[in-house]
Amino acid sequence: MYILGIETSCDETAFAIYSEQGLVAHVVHSQVDLHALYDGVVPELASRDHIKRALPLLKEVLQQANIDKKEITAIAYTQGPGLMGALLVGAVLAKSLAFSLNIPALGIHHLEAHLLAPMLEPQAPNYPFIALLVSGGHSLLAKVNDIGEYQILGESLDDAAGEAFDKTAKILGLPYPGGPVLAKLAENGDSKAFNFPRPMLDKPNLDFSFSGLKTAVLYAWKASDQSEETRINIAASFQQAIVETLLAKSYKALKKNNIKHLVVAGGVGANQLLRNSLQNLALEKNFQVYFPRLEFCTDNAAMVAYTGYLRFKLYNQQDKDLSVNTKARWSLEEII
Ligand code: KG4
Ligand code: ZN
Repeated sequence: MYILGIETSCDETAFAIYSEQGLVAHVVHSQVDLHALYDGVVPELASRDHIKRALPLLKEVLQQANIDKKEITAIAYTQGPGLMGALLVGAVLAKSLAFSLNIPALGIHHLEAHLLAPMLEPQAPNYPFIALLVSGGHSLLAKVNDIGEYQILGESLDDAAGEAFDKTAKILGLPYPGGPVLAKLAENGDSKAFNFPRPMLDKPNLDFSFSGLKTAVLYAWKASDQSEETRINIAASFQQAIVETLLAKSYKALKKNNIKHLVVAGGVGANQLLRNSLQNLALEKNFQVYFPRLEFCTDNAAMVAYTGYLRFKLYNQQDKDLSVNTKARWSLEEII
């Protein structure tokens, strides 16, 4: 059995092949350079670039997997949430290819795919686990009881964690995409130089809020000498504040639900301070933390192909409907 995964929800065009033996091949093209000129993702440019890249990448993934397209059993594509035009490119390709091969095309929830990405690793967690999903578009804590059984425990009331990294980087004059650039800069900074707020830590719930933190950085930067040293120290202090907040809320979620397995997913999961701090906390508090490898933290099709594989196997989903029904907004709790 070969499942083809297609991911085009934002600014990565990605394809993967998953079989019963595991991941066979995966390829990703990132549009980062294309959008860097504009300091953020331009939706129309994203869609057009997906169109340009899709077929050559599909050919490449089939070559890497050393299979013919006729050997594909089913196609899993990201149906939402994401940028509408970008989603449409992947969905239309998936549906037409499925039609021509007379195989099913399964619409996959992008966040479900992120949540299940750690399952691609040899050391995968058992259900139930708590997932901290922190990306450019989403920040949430969810209880994963089983595949398809997700309970949102808390989420960001405003900016997502990745968005807060990106916007703060912009305030500090750093190039797009700001998250990894800010994190790199912060390595040499003093994280105690500025005492930024740890938002929502005083609240008993598991929601996040990052826009106040970003505003605190804006005021601190404006009032400062704006030297390179200050920039580095603000970056380090900001990163410390956001990481401490994510740590505290994740631990609270584990304790509240009496669960000892935490999975971290999404682009911010690539942050080294977050990874190291969570590993240390896990040792101290006696729980297990699981991270997907870096390339599966950010957008990729391996996680989409894997989710499709599970759904195809478990529910024998045979969707051969030709209508295209992409969803820009789609709650994780609505998945069936
Ligand atoms: O999951 P992802 O690739 O795309 C979305 O679905 O949003 O996440 C991208 C986000 C961006 O906001 C990026 O700045 C952030 O993840 N990011 C990081 C790091 N690497 C990527 N944020 C902090 N530290 C990093 N090392
Ligand atoms: Zn994503």
